[in-house]
Amino acid sequence: MPSKTLEELVSLCKRRGFIFQSNDIYGGVKGLYDYGPMGIELKNNLKQTWWKSMIYERDDIEGIDANILTSPEVLKFSGHEDTFSDPLVDCKNCKNRWREDQLINNTCPNCNSKELTNPRPFNLMFKTSIGPVDDGSSFVYLRPETAQQIFINFKNVLDSTNRSLPFGIAQIGKAFRNEITPRNFIFRVREFEQMELEFFVEPGKDAEWHKYWIDSRYQWWIEQGISKERLELLEVEKDSLSHYSKRTVDIIYSFPHGKEELEGIANRSDFDLGSHTKNQKDFSICANINKNTKSTTKLAVQNLEKKSWFIPYVIEPSAGVDRGVLAILNEAYKEEKIDNNNSRIVLSLKPHLSPIKCAVIPLKRNNLELVNYAKNIKKSLQKIGLGRVALENSGNIGKSYRRHDEIGTPICITVDFETLENKTVTVRDRDTMKQQRLNPEELKKYYTKYFI
Ligand code: GLY
Repeated sequence: MPSKTLEELVSLCKRRGFIFQSNDIYGGVKGLYDYGPMGIELKNNLKQTWWKSMIYERDDIEGIDANILTSPEVLKFSGHEDTFSDPLVDCKNCKNRWREDQLINNTCPNCNSKELTNPRPFNLMFKTSIGPVDDGSSFVYLRPETAQQIFINFKNVLDSTNRSLPFGIAQIGKAFRNEITPRNFIFRVREFEQMELEFFVEPGKDAEWHKYWIDSRYQWWIEQGISKERLELLEVEKDSLSHYSKRTVDIIYSFPHGKEELEGIANRSDFDLGSHTKNQKDFSICANINKNTKSTTKLAVQNLEKKSWFIPYVIEPSAGVDRGVLAILNEAYKEEKIDNNNSRIVLSLKPHLSPIKCAVIPLKRNNLELVNYAKNIKKSLQKIGLGRVALENSGNIGKSYRRHDEIGTPICITVDFETLENKTVTVRDRDTMKQQRLNPEELKKYYTKYFI
């Protein structure tokens, strides 16, 4: 069973160093969280798995890492300046602000008053200024999605890699949204990370590629340990589609706080490259775009047979890293009875996602021989390069096992006095709690096989 409540996860995350409230010692800032020593490892492992599956295991996707600070022109022509807003209402009684579309029966969730202002659009983009003069003329946005930098780099990537359609550009990075009501831990936050792929295809082939990416992304989440029972696909209704989307299917996960989007797979048609291209009238662009007289570059490809130029369509699988971490933590969380009187909390993470792959524990912390032996095992396993191997030198085996169960370490190795005699160590498996003694060669094989 996954965790029963969000509170259980929040508590584990703080206790074991996954996620902390940001700016905590000054009272915290709503909608901002920091990743701790375990959280950063889990998050990096998730991002790396995505990157490998997109770039290394395929031959039709390139990666980029573009800037967060974004010219207003990019977000003007992308449609975000005009449309990227939520309907905001104020409670006339308690003065709290809410997203109108999240209110139940148009009632203030704080004081139950129905005296609310009329909704007005509230743009979610953060602004900051660039350069020494802060007079409003030199502002930039903090990007609200990583996608736009992919579109404006389309020609750079195309020309520098000799790609042809279909091909994709992938990026992992931070995005920012000034959410009116951030909520549900790291689910809806103001600073977050996205893993976005923009996959460019010929017009007319977009529907089949859209289906391909929906199936492929659904399968990928299952490979990360998310069970089918808590995943579903949801066709986004026409009137809820983002301004750029022709069709979107969301991968929905049953979080402890309810069913919500884990990843959206949108058919953005020729909206984005069409919006940012120069000489728009030279192309038959289907999407409803704003006139662009500022772009310096034609974001089109040539049909070599017909010798004509056209704007590619784009399919976008866009996943939230933080939401992914939350779903994975939720799935992995288990409270198990181990005998009549005892229970344990264990994170049954897929081994490739575990923050620590293996903990090496000397039986006694003050015994130099045991500690040095353990340090050498740590060094040799670390060298294999499968992730972080930790020396756990607390001197308390029971506590060490409990800690590593709770952070999802798949393997614990104990170095004891028998090790000094015959070089064998005790190896404990997180999920079965079974122990076996292995010699150095068997240990290396066991460890490598576990993760590959
Ligand atoms: N790029 C899609 C999104 O940020 O929702």
